[in-house]
Amino acid sequence: MQYGYFDDKKKEYVITTPRTPLPWINYLGSEDFFSLISNTAGGYSFYRDAKLLRLTRYRYNNCPGDVGGRYYYIKNKDEVWNPGWQPVKTELDHYRCRHGLGYTVIEGEKSGISAALTCFVPLGEHCEVDRLALTNHTAKPQTLTLFSLVEFCLWNAVDDASNFQRNFSTGEVEVEGNSIYHKTEYRERRNHYAVYAVNKPVAGFDTDRESFCGAHNGFEAAEAVFEGKPRNSVASGWAPIGSHCLEVTLRPGESSSFIFVLGYAENLPEKKWSAPGVINKASAQRMLAKFQTDVQVEEALTALGTYWEDLLSKFRIGSEDEKLNRMVNIWNQYQCMVTFNMSRSASYYESGMGRGMGFRDSCQDLLGFVHLIPHRARQRILDIAATQFEDGSTYHQYQPLTKRGNTDVGSGFNDDPLWLIAATAAYLRETGDFGILQESVPFDNNTEKAQPLLEHLRRSFEYTATRKGAHGLPLIGRADWNDCLNLNCFSDQPGESFQTCSNFESGRAESVFIAGMFVKYGTEYAEICEHLGKTEESSRIRAQVQKMYDTVLDAGWDGEWFRRAYDAFDAPVGSRECDEGQIFIEPQGMCVMAGIGVKEGHAAKALQSVKDRLDTEYGIVLLQPAYTTYRLNLGEISSYPPGYKENAGIFCHSNPWVSCAEAVLGNGDRAFEIYRKICPAYLEEISEIHRTEPYVYSQMIAGKDAPRFGEAKNSWLTGTAAWNFVNVSQYILGIRPTFDGLCIDPCIPKTLSGFTVDRICRGVRYRITVDNSAGVQNGVRRLIADGIEVPYRIVPYAVHKKDCIITVIMG
Ligand code: GLC
Ligand code: GLC
Repeated sequence: MQYGYFDDKKKEYVITTPRTPLPWINYLGSEDFFSLISNTAGGYSFYRDAKLLRLTRYRYNNCPGDVGGRYYYIKNKDEVWNPGWQPVKTELDHYRCRHGLGYTVIEGEKSGISAALTCFVPLGEHCEVDRLALTNHTAKPQTLTLFSLVEFCLWNAVDDASNFQRNFSTGEVEVEGNSIYHKTEYRERRNHYAVYAVNKPVAGFDTDRESFCGAHNGFEAAEAVFEGKPRNSVASGWAPIGSHCLEVTLRPGESSSFIFVLGYAENLPEKKWSAPGVINKASAQRMLAKFQTDVQVEEALTALGTYWEDLLSKFRIGSEDEKLNRMVNIWNQYQCMVTFNMSRSASYYESGMGRGMGFRDSCQDLLGFVHLIPHRARQRILDIAATQFEDGSTYHQYQPLTKRGNTDVGSGFNDDPLWLIAATAAYLRETGDFGILQESVPFDNNTEKAQPLLEHLRRSFEYTATRKGAHGLPLIGRADWNDCLNLNCFSDQPGESFQTCSNFESGRAESVFIAGMFVKYGTEYAEICEHLGKTEESSRIRAQVQKMYDTVLDAGWDGEWFRRAYDAFDAPVGSRECDEGQIFIEPQGMCVMAGIGVKEGHAAKALQSVKDRLDTEYGIVLLQPAYTTYRLNLGEISSYPPGYKENAGIFCHSNPWVSCAEAVLGNGDRAFEIYRKICPAYLEEISEIHRTEPYVYSQMIAGKDAPRFGEAKNSWLTGTAAWNFVNVSQYILGIRPTFDGLCIDPCIPKTLSGFTVDRICRGVRYRITVDNSAGVQNGVRRLIADGIEVPYRIVPYAVHKKDCIITVIMG
């Protein structure tokens, strides 16, 4: 069942009912100011950091689920309705929500009046613009009363949701003309405020929630609205809101629009006040002046459209598979921008108060983003590297605003360091900017301890190389990529962190997954060194990588697949010797991507085992058999009921690794089958089962052991987005930047007769046509670049040209 459809021409997903199984959201903003917006106008806004600078309040886990947002109420005689249906939920005669790239349009119609609400964050501005256009389709003049509503958050989202003994007394606002200023804590240490304004004269306003709603009502029954009488309330403590009331009379056929702006502004400490107790509003007014007319709004929307058009032109496919095209050309790249910006901080499942930027998460997100805006990827690498410690270990998370490591979680997740190499190598292949390796980067954010980025990479490698266990495999520490495989924390107290309660630092447990990473990213580090002419260092590294390769084939091999780990007592995890959890997905994907066992035949066996034991109709589950009891020696993984999350859920992030691995072996049919199974556009028709948005990846789909097999959770913020873009663009379509040139080596289903790709890399537009009339899954018979036959699959970077025409004949 579908709840909407893709409009590829406009690059929109069009939702045709407000009753989606879950809120289906979009993100507005791509630089500093961000908003989340659901298909019923729910959500919230923040400036740079969803925890520390949140502008509007949102109640997670509310009932019903999605209440609170930017709401516009239309009162037409006795009828009150909202274009997005919520919160009043008056049945609409027509409803449609169009989620586009950086904007959302919600259209509602009731009793001959239509409303179109266009929401977006203009480029370069710190605000959300909401334009509401009303049209009278009746034969009579209509007089309407319009109310707006946002509820302010008192900036720090954690305090806002917990410290009520203080919060209920701190709220302050100023109202000036059509503008409402939220200035809680501005009297003391904050030098920022929020503004919510409209471009037309108001008939009244409200800034105190209780006055607006009434003491015993929610937003759905706001008394001021239903009575059609704003209270002109001025908040003092309690819950400050922003609400404008406007009167409008529309002749038959007439339209009128209202432009609302919710913005963030800062002042220098010495320029905070224009009079005692009165905010200096100059910067807000400069911003508001830019959005007073429809023409200004249209121009800003056009600029946003051009911005995305430009970004998406970096990689564009043409093929006979419409779903593939829309994922590659639009939604997968769009989601990569969102995960790059948000990491794991703010979604409808991540409250914005918790994890902030994950070290490993952000490094991986960058893999799918680096081609879009390389200079932002560059800055991100430097920020991330600055949270590394001198011994090569890293903070596991950091806060986006302060860029400081999170000391509560600390370090000791032993996969983290190697992801820094992965991210940097991807950046270097994309840009050739080896200068970044000379940038001086602090350790532990301490500039006195700065070293060139290259030295950070070396320490990442050394950290792993010098911490091996009894089998010669890397020590796992608190966890590796799988946060829930906690082999050194024997947590038996409810509420305790599974990752950081260090009550059993065995110093023994080892990870085959990190071993796979060591081979893959160790090799990439060696290649970087070779490129810099450091041949001694590179052969030293290659020798260590070779040793690890051999160790994996020995201690890491179980007979039919790669083992997952060794626990604190040296017992294998992910082995046929185990009673449950005999086979895990992660080492099969990572080890084969690293090339381990390809020539020896282990790789093919491992992938066959994945197919036989882990595959399902909705994707590949993380392990089998699921753990049915809690295991102290394994940790959080066994805490989940069978089939959910890391305990045998279809943990989507690890699926593309297996698809990439199949491509490494040349199995185009199978690589694509794995890609398709979890790819949202292919799941649109089963939206009633899948339930999350059909245009973006979710973190997890319930596995076959779960009662709700096939149901997805935690949409948007997942490494699945970046890895699937890497998978489809570099492994399946096979277009991958290398240090020396653009490699073209497709691995596609034999039924795909070919495709075209436009790829901009290092300033050159490569126009690639792949001909698969031979009907093969892999293999390049001829490659012709600008009329010249290229013997290998790598087209040397054509620095001197703007365009390069490439024809590839498979066979
Ligand atoms: C979550 C985390 C990620 C981790 C994964 C597997 O998605 O954000 O860091 O690798 O779970 O546990
Ligand atoms: C929990 C989740 C896992 C996530 C981790 C982040 O362990 O199961 O997916 O990575 O929290 O701290």
